[in-house]
Amino acid sequence: MGFCNRRRNPYGDNGGLARGTASDQNVHKSGDSIASLVEQQALEWLCELFELPKSFKGVMPTGATGCNFLGACIARQFVGQQQGIDVAKQGVYGLEIEFFSTTPHASMIKSLGMAGLGQQNVTLVDSIVNSEAMDVNALARQLDNSNSKGKVVIASAGTVTTTDFDDLTAIAKLCTQHNAWLHVDAAFGLFERVVTGVNGKTKGIELADSITVDCHKWLNVPYDCGVFLTRHLDLLEQSFDVPAPYLANFSSEPDFMSLGIENSRRFRALPVWLSLLAYGKQGIKQWVSSNINLSKQLANWIDDSIDYELVHPCQMNVILFRPSAGNLSQQQIDEKTKKLLQAINKDGRIYLSPGHWQGNEIIRVALSNWQTDENDIKIAIQVLQELK
Ligand SMILES: Cc1ncc(COP(=O)(O)O)c(C=O)c1O
Repeated sequence: MGFCNRRRNPYGDNGGLARGTASDQNVHKSGDSIASLVEQQALEWLCELFELPKSFKGVMPTGATGCNFLGACIARQFVGQQQGIDVAKQGVYGLEIEFFSTTPHASMIKSLGMAGLGQQNVTLVDSIVNSEAMDVNALARQLDNSNSKGKVVIASAGTVTTTDFDDLTAIAKLCTQHNAWLHVDAAFGLFERVVTGVNGKTKGIELADSITVDCHKWLNVPYDCGVFLTRHLDLLEQSFDVPAPYLANFSSEPDFMSLGIENSRRFRALPVWLSLLAYGKQGIKQWVSSNINLSKQLANWIDDSIDYELVHPCQMNVILFRPSAGNLSQQQIDEKTKKLLQAINKDGRIYLSPGHWQGNEIIRVALSNWQTDENDIKIAIQVLQELK
């Protein structure tokens, strides 16, 4: 959600072709066309962009929800392997599995349900005070106390409200000690690594067993493009491969249809490949940094304003605010916040989303569009001044 109203087509007049739609290739197995090689190369380039080890391989599902579902399935397969159960073939009967997380995205919870593991099968780990990030000492205690034979930690690199990052190095160490699978939801947070490098907020993500990232977020390709990366491609293939004579694979590499949900798959890699080729690391770094700087600019204006309250420091590309409380009760300020959001979105010049922080209604501004510039911030400030 953000300032998307001025979006032009970054793929020029031939947008349909560049989006991979007009070419109408089925990227399910290698050898049919060049499309599989393009997806392979786009995945390799993404690993280079994010400075991830070459041992990470993957596939492009529909989005971060699709990736988190793959994360649930591969973790399930790993845990099953430890317990002598091939889950993909035999099912989950008798499987012991416990998930640990602090602020899992709603799509992760949905994925646990879809994978037959239970939306409620998550042991919630305390967060650090005033943060959505995991308290690593609390995780250590909970892993020690767990009797489950199968443990999976779901960490976050960029939570959806406060954009907090878990301490992935410390969490990975605990996972190794407890033989736990580590899945990291970095749907938009992995792009932060392009700005601050391997020692920034995502430090340690290279130790994860699997990673979710979205290209239709901060890479700005058209919707329907997630990226699932793992260091254990064999387990992903075990989770999703089903042989069929008419789909025989004559290559030594697993086909993409054996690494995810869909057999037939659209050519979603093409816009990723083109964007990486056209903009390169510097171009992407430029727009991600610009979104972050502009977010801080708007957050500073809100913080200085007597009409609004910044409810959490802006750490990346999300700004959380509400009208100043004055003498209003909590219920009244929640009502005022909801009405203000409706008025802003009805006005139509900018589009903001709702949210909750520490049990209270807030308004959430998220910047991720490559074209957002100073003028959009001016428009946002003007709207906030008019509708206060
Ligand atoms: C951290 C995180 N994970 C997962 C998702 C789900 O992404 P998608 O809508 O691409 O499935 C989002 C979307 O906002 C997100 O921010």
